[in-house]
Amino acid sequence: MNIQEMTIADYEEVAALWRKTEGIGLHDDVDSKEGVANYLERNPSLSFVARENGKIVGAVLCGHDGRRGYLNHLAVDSACRGRGIGKALAAHCLEGLKKAGISRCNIHVFADNQHGHSFWKHLGWSERNDLKVMYCRLT
Ligand SMILES: CC(C)(COP(=O)(O)OP(=O)(O)OC[C@H]1O[C@@H](n2cnc3c(N)ncnc32)[C@H](O)[C@@H]1OP(=O)(O)O)[C@@H](O)C(=O)NCCC(=O)NCCS
Repeated sequence: MNIQEMTIADYEEVAALWRKTEGIGLHDDVDSKEGVANYLERNPSLSFVARENGKIVGAVLCGHDGRRGYLNHLAVDSACRGRGIGKALAAHCLEGLKKAGISRCNIHVFADNQHGHSFWKHLGWSERNDLKVMYCRLT
């Protein structure tokens, strides 16, 4: 298994992994090829794929807004879990954020994704109960 920076050439394979992974919510607009291309362009060297025998078995998007980091869509193929791939992908992101001078990172986890909550807690992440995520559509 090796970890490489995600490029837009990986999009179709990564999107297929996200689509089949429980706990990952995709939106047609922001998660389109164009949306992910914009994200990768704005946040170079922060998003990664894990490959095994050439096939993508894990992926994560990461970026920052100049003050805080954001980690999105961490997914590992169900056949390859429990081998340190998720942890390694997250560590690559946090290392990249640190190098960019970012000292905090957020992640959105679905409220009913108990598996995701316990994974992040196991890695030392803290839960915030004082916030609710709100959003609006611009188009
Ligand atoms: C969550 C996920 C990314 C973990 O990937 P993974 O490759 O299986 O995890 P790792 O093998 O790297 O595990 C790293 C550590 O976390 C632990 N761990 C893994 N899943 C865990 C869970 N659900 N609860 C608690 N600990 C967990 C492992 O035992 C390991 O512990 P160690 O480092 O002390 O030995 C993967 O299960 C997945 O894709 N889940 C569905 C999508 C999802 O929920 N993503 C997260 C929400 S955004």
